[in-house]
Amino acid sequence: MWDRLITDCHVATMVASPGNPLGLFPNAAIGIDGGKIVRVGKRTELAGFKAKEVIACGGAWITPGLVDCHTHLVFGGTRANEHAMRRAGATYEEIAKAGGGIVSTVKASKAASDEELQTSARRRLHALLAGGVTTVEIKSGYGLDTASEVRLLNAAREIQQGEPVRIVSTLLAAHALPPDVKEGAARDAYVKMIAEEMIPAVAKAGLASSVDAFCETIAFTPAEVSQVFTAARANGLPVRLHAEQLSNQKGAELAARYKALSADHLEHLDAAGARAMAAAGTVAVLLPGAFYALNEKKKPPVQLLRDAGVPIAIASDCNPGTSPLLNPQLVMNMACTLFGLTPEEAIAGMTINAARALGLAHEVGTIEAGKAADLCVWRVSELSELGYWIGMPGPERRIFGGEDG
Ligand code: NIG
Ligand code: FE
Repeated sequence: MWDRLITDCHVATMVASPGNPLGLFPNAAIGIDGGKIVRVGKRTELAGFKAKEVIACGGAWITPGLVDCHTHLVFGGTRANEHAMRRAGATYEEIAKAGGGIVSTVKASKAASDEELQTSARRRLHALLAGGVTTVEIKSGYGLDTASEVRLLNAAREIQQGEPVRIVSTLLAAHALPPDVKEGAARDAYVKMIAEEMIPAVAKAGLASSVDAFCETIAFTPAEVSQVFTAARANGLPVRLHAEQLSNQKGAELAARYKALSADHLEHLDAAGARAMAAAGTVAVLLPGAFYALNEKKKPPVQLLRDAGVPIAIASDCNPGTSPLLNPQLVMNMACTLFGLTPEEAIAGMTINAARALGLAHEVGTIEAGKAADLCVWRVSELSELGYWIGMPGPERRIFGGEDG
C-alpha cells in the first residue's frame, strides 16, 4: 500500500517528449511512497491502487516543487540605501567603488550574531517556500575569510533544520576582495588563500557542494577564477560562475573548460560562449531580478542559447544588493516579460533545468518514478498562468518528500 495517491489532477511531469516539452499529462494521478514518487499514470489506471491517503485535487495542475538554483539568502543588514543611490543615477560599479556593494554586506554580516543571521535568512526562506520552492541553493560570499565563509555555510545548513526544504550550499569566496585587502600582492594572496586554504577546508567539512566565483572587472579576472576552479576540481567540487553580467570576460568559456554546472547572469554572453556551454553541458542560469534592479539594458541572448541547445534555468538571485527578490512567480513572469522566455521555458527554468544547474536532476525537477515527491498543486485553469501573473500567490498545496509543508 502506498502512502499517498494524488488524483483528479493534471500533471506537468517536465519529462520532455517531441511536441510535449513539459511532459503534460492531463487527467493523471501520482503514487507516493517513502517520500518518493512511485508511479505517474492515468487517473483511471491508478484508481485500483491502494494508499493510506487519497488526495483529490479537483482538477488542479501539479508541477514538480520549484528549484531556486541561485540565491545569496544568508546575509546581515540590507542595502536599501543603494536602491536610493541607484535611483539617483549611481551605477553598480560606482556604488561598489564607493565602499558600498558586496563589502558593505560583508561588514553587516560580520556584525550580525549567528541568531540574527539565521533568523533573517529563515524569514526569507519562508517567503520562497510559500512560493512553492522545495530546493534552494544558498551561496556564501559575504564572509571573505575562512572562518566567516564557514560561518555563513553553517548558517545555510542550520536553517534547513525543521524546514520542509532541501538546501544546497555553494562556496563563493571569490565574490569580492575583502575590505582590508589592497590590489597587488595582497590580492594575489587572497586568491591563493581561497585555493589553498578555504576550498580544502570547506570540502573537508562537507559544507558546500560546489564552488562559485564572480568573474568581472569589479571582481575577479579569468586567471584568478582559473586558480579557484583548479583548486575546486582538486578537492572534488564542481564549479559554477557569475559570468558576463556587466561585461564580456569570456567567463562562460572559462566555466565550460571546467565543465561548470552553470554559468549565471550572461547578459554579455557571445556565440562562442554559448557554444562552449552547450558542448560542456553547462546550464545557463538567467537572473531577471538583478537585470531589473540594476536597470540593465543588455538582455541575455536567449535566442543564442536556444540555438546552441543550452538548457536555460532561471532563479531569484535573492541578495541584498542587486536582487532583493523572494517571489518565484515574479521570477517566472520577469523571465518572460524582460527576457522573452516562453511561459513553458520559465517553468522548465525553475524545475528541471534548475535541478540540472545544481547537479540534482537525478533527484528533483521532474515528476517521474524514483524522484523525490516534491510537488506543487496550483489552482490555475492553465499552466501558463505561472508565467502570466506579475507575482501571484504560491501553490495551494506544497508537498516536500511526500509530506505537506
Ligand atoms: O548575483 N554579481 C555578483 N553577485 C550578486 C550580487 C551580490 C551583491 O551585490 O551583494 C549577484 O548579482
Ligand atoms: Fe548571484
